[in-house]
Amino acid sequence: MGEKTFYITTPIYYVNDLPHIGHAFTTILADVTARYKRLLGYDVFFLTGTDEHGQKAERAARQRGIPPQELADRVVENYARLWARLGIQYSRFIRTTEPVHRRAVQKFFRRLVDRGDIYKGVYEGWYCPGCEAFVPEGSVADGLHTDCGRAVERLQEDSYFFRLSRYQEPLREYYRAHPEFIQPEARYNEVVRFVEAGLKDLSVSRRTVRWGIPVPDDPDHVIYVWLDALTNYISALGWADGDPLYERYWPADVHLVGKDILRFHCVYWPAFLMSAGLPLPRQVFGHGWWLRAQSKMSKSLGNIISPEELLEFSSPDMIRYYLVREAPLDVDSDFSYEGYQTRVNADLANDYGNLIHRLTSMLARFCEGRVPDSSRLDGEMVTIRSDLEGWVSRLEAWVDRWAYPELRREAWVHVQRLNGLLARREPWRLMRDASTRVEAQALLGFVTEALRLITVGVWPVIPFGAGAFLERLRQPVPPSRDHLAWGVLPPGTPVAPGPELYPRIELPEEVRLEAPLVPASSVTSPSREGLTMIDLQTFMQVDLRVGEIVAAEPIEKSKKLLKLTVDLGSERRQVVAGIAQYYRPEELRGRKVVVVANLEPAVLMGTESQGMILAADVDGRPYLLEVPAEVPNGSRVR
Ligand code: MSP
Repeated sequence: MGEKTFYITTPIYYVNDLPHIGHAFTTILADVTARYKRLLGYDVFFLTGTDEHGQKAERAARQRGIPPQELADRVVENYARLWARLGIQYSRFIRTTEPVHRRAVQKFFRRLVDRGDIYKGVYEGWYCPGCEAFVPEGSVADGLHTDCGRAVERLQEDSYFFRLSRYQEPLREYYRAHPEFIQPEARYNEVVRFVEAGLKDLSVSRRTVRWGIPVPDDPDHVIYVWLDALTNYISALGWADGDPLYERYWPADVHLVGKDILRFHCVYWPAFLMSAGLPLPRQVFGHGWWLRAQSKMSKSLGNIISPEELLEFSSPDMIRYYLVREAPLDVDSDFSYEGYQTRVNADLANDYGNLIHRLTSMLARFCEGRVPDSSRLDGEMVTIRSDLEGWVSRLEAWVDRWAYPELRREAWVHVQRLNGLLARREPWRLMRDASTRVEAQALLGFVTEALRLITVGVWPVIPFGAGAFLERLRQPVPPSRDHLAWGVLPPGTPVAPGPELYPRIELPEEVRLEAPLVPASSVTSPSREGLTMIDLQTFMQVDLRVGEIVAAEPIEKSKKLLKLTVDLGSERRQVVAGIAQYYRPEELRGRKVVVVANLEPAVLMGTESQGMILAADVDGRPYLLEVPAEVPNGSRVR
C-alpha cells in the first residue's frame, strides 16, 4: 500500500433512469483521475454507486409495475455492465439499499439529533417530485417548477427539520478559509452567494414517501433522500461499524459532481458533517454539462446519447478520450456525432494509432522486431526528450487542477513531433544504405522510447489501446511511477506485432440520417418538461392513421431496422422501423398500428421509409401502440 492516500467519489446515480454520456462523463473523469493518482504512487479509493431510495425511484417502479428493489437491481446491473465496458476501475460500488448504508444513515441521523440540530415541525411549501425537493417560492410559476418545467405540489406535513440556519456563519467562515473547497472558481462564487442570501432550516424527513430509510424511533417518517444519499460517502467506508477504511480514507480528497447538485454537496453535506463532528471533504468539483443542441440531455426531450450506442461503432477508449478531451469543466459542451467522429479519427486513428502502427511495422521490417538501442541522441532528439520529461513532470499538477484538455493537448504535440520526425528523416530510406543504417535504427529506438513514455502518460485516459501497446513492448500494465521516466525500455526487447489499435470509425447510416436537432433555446413558446407547447392546429397537421402491417422483413446489415409494408386502406406504404431487436417479423404481420402518414420520406440503410409507426418508449425499448382489430385501415387518429 502506498503512503499517500487519495479518496475520490462520483455522485451516486438515480435508478429511475438509464445511464447516458452525462453520467459516463463524471464517472470516466473520476476514473481517469483515480488511474493517474495510482500511477503516481497514491493509495487510491474510488467510490461510485447508486442512489436507490426516494420518490423518483418509487414512481418509476410503480410505472413499470415492479417493486422498487427489483427496479434498482436491474438498473444497477446496467451500470455495472457499462462501467466494466468503459474500463471504470472503482474500488467500491455502494448501493443505498445495502444494510451497511442503512446503519450509517441512521447513526448519522442520531448524531444530528444528539447535537440538538434536529427538531420536529410542520412544513408547508412547494414540492417538486421531479427534483425531490421543496422549491423556493421564486422558482414556481403557473404551478410549474421553473428549473425543470415540471408540476409542483403544495405540501404540508409533519417533518423533522435540520437547523441549517445555525450553520450559515460557520459555512461562510469555512469557505473563506478554504477557497479550494469549491472548484472551479465560478462555482465557489455561486455557492457563497447562495449562502449569503440566508439559509433556512431544512426539512429532512418525509411522510409522503415510503421507499427509504426510516427515521430512528419514528418509522412513520422516512429520511430525506438527499441526507440518505450524501451519507454514502462515509457509509461505503464502513463508518457505522468502525471499519479502518474510514480512518484511512476520510475525509475525501474530492467529490466530483455535476453543477446541478453543487448546493447539496457544498452547503448541506458540510453542514451535516459539521453537526456530526466529522471532518469535511477537501474539495467539491462541480463540472459543466454535456448538452445536445444546446439543451441538457434528458429523457423527456429524447436527446440522450447512450454510451452503448456509441460502443456499437466505436470503442471505450474513444468515448473516454473524446469526453475528457472536450471536458466541459467550467462551461457546458455540446455533443455531436460528427464532432465525435472527426476528433477520434484525427487524434486516435491518425495521429496516435498510425504512429504506433508505422513504428511497429518498421521495427519488424528493419530491426528484426526488436527495440534498437536509443542511447545515442542527436540535438533534436535531446530537445524532444527534455520536453517530454517536462511534460511528465507537470502531469500531477494538471491532474490536480483537472486540466485534462491541456495535458492532452501537449501530449499530442509530442505525438505530432514524432510523426514529423519520421516523415522528415525517412528511416526507410536511411535503411537502404549501410552507412546510414545505424542512424535509422537509433531514430527508431528513440521514437519507440518516446512513444512508450507518452503512452504511459496517457494510459489513464485510453487504457485499452495504451495498455495493449505497452504489452506489445513487454511492459507491465498497469504501469507505475517508475515507468514515467526516460530510458526504461531495454534495447533488444522483442516487439510483438498486433492489429491496428484505433481503426477509423464511420457513423452508422441511422445516425447520419438523423433529423438535425433544433436548439431548444431558439424556441420561445412555453414549455413543459422541456418540450415546446403547440396549439391544436399545429397538432392537427400531423396525419395519424390506422394501418395494418401486411409484410415485415429484416434489412440486410442492420441489427435494428425492419422493413414493413403497411396497408393504410387506400394505399400501401413501406415503413422502416427501428424495432428489430424487440419484435420478430412473424409476430408483426396482421397487427394494427398507428402510422404518421404525412412524414417526409427518408432513406435508412438504403431503404426508403414512407412514414413512421408510433410506439411508447420505455428506456429505449419500443412498445407498439395497439389498435382494436375492428378499426378499419386508414381511419384517422386524433
Ligand atoms: N442521486 C443524485 C446524486 C446523489 S450524490 C450523493 C443525482 N443523481 S443523477 O443520476 O441525477 O446524476 C447526476 C449526476 O450525473 C450529475 O451531477 C452529473 O455528475 C451527471 N450528469 C447527468 N447528466 C449530465 C449531463 N448532461 N452532463 C454532464 N453530467 C451530467 O443527482
